[in-house]
Amino acid sequence: MEYEAVKGKLRANPKVWLVTGVAGFIGSNLLETLLKLEQTVIGLDNFATGFRHNLNEVKSSVTASQWQRFTFIEGDIVDAELCLELTQGVDYVLHQAALGSVPRSLADPLTTNRTNVDGFLAVLDAARQRQVKAFVYAASSSTYGDHTQLPKVEDQIGNPLSPYAVTKLTNELYADVYWRNYGFQSVGLRYFNVFGARQDPNGAYAAVIPKWIAAMIQNQPIHIYGDGETSRDFCYIQNTVQANILAAANEQLPGHQVMNVALNDRTSLNQLFEHVRQALAQNGIVYEQSPRYEDFRPGDVRHSQADISKAKRLLGYEPEYRVQQGLTLAMQWYVRRLSDELPESRSGSMG
Ligand SMILES: NC(=O)c1ccc[n+]([C@@H]2O[C@H](COP(=O)([O-])OP(=O)(O)OC[C@H]3O[C@@H](n4cnc5c(N)ncnc54)[C@H](O)[C@@H]3O)[C@@H](O)[C@H]2O)c1
Repeated sequence: MEYEAVKGKLRANPKVWLVTGVAGFIGSNLLETLLKLEQTVIGLDNFATGFRHNLNEVKSSVTASQWQRFTFIEGDIVDAELCLELTQGVDYVLHQAALGSVPRSLADPLTTNRTNVDGFLAVLDAARQRQVKAFVYAASSSTYGDHTQLPKVEDQIGNPLSPYAVTKLTNELYADVYWRNYGFQSVGLRYFNVFGARQDPNGAYAAVIPKWIAAMIQNQPIHIYGDGETSRDFCYIQNTVQANILAAANEQLPGHQVMNVALNDRTSLNQLFEHVRQALAQNGIVYEQSPRYEDFRPGDVRHSQADISKAKRLLGYEPEYRVQQGLTLAMQWYVRRLSDELPESRSGSMG
């Protein structure tokens, strides 16, 4: 079914959703869309990498009565009892909570495993016990590992290249085994590089787009590892939100399905640099520095591009935003959000 039709159906017949990782980037965007669709949402987060200000921002973007349909629980997904309590009466689970970032998982594999594997299993098992109507979870393109074929097709994966990738692959294995043994249906959405409002630009593990936007706004140098021809299938957040809602509302998907969610497009880092620079210029901020090229980082995948035909076929997924449109929208948020941190000489040029 088409996205617009699915949204109409949900509005007419609201559901109860559990969103884990609700204070994070993707979780808070899911929350905002669901509340605007008049859904009831329970959100779970322990603020490991998420923020209360993300929730406050959602609050200010919805009506008072929509916000009343949201219940926030501060807690850990590893707590199996809590997961069981929170899944009571829930129709759909969107499981987003995890510790992202490959470098973080290399620095602290145990903590990443605890959240991403133990936590995943606690949420999955609670959802199974409660027999929720749909269980959709955040899988990852990192599962393709060292498989070099492009575009990436769901059933052709290589060896995982990091502890983070192992955890995300393990999620898929558990979801598969839960289908085979318990007949519990689920959908894993393999996200490729998602970007948009509320993605954290700070810290050692920030993703490339928010990191670059923040650096350019502050007139800091941009570092590119390698020659800049490394490419990714960057995906604007609203496409990811669409895939989650379609996957949950489609209660009839058989078995355990894993599918790519991106654009089936490739943007090199050099192209991305130009796109970000242009989106910034649209907001009156001129960035004149050239990127600084450094050595390739070991373990970095050279190219990534998703075959999205499975999500199109099974979900009716049709990404609505191309990379540049998404960057224009995301930039408005970053400029607003980061303008307080600007030196005066640059804030003056913002108009
Ligand atoms: N952003 C991407 O490009 C991308 C790509 C592939 C997969 N993913 C996956 O998507 C999901 C969401 O990622 P994101 O980009 O929004 O990251 P994020 O860090 O902004 O959000 C993750 C949220 O989970 C919460 N969390 C972490 N550990 C928790 C725990 N033990 N208990 C409760 N809450 C906990 C964090 O506080 C945070 O709010 C993750 O599963 C991530 O692995 C993201």
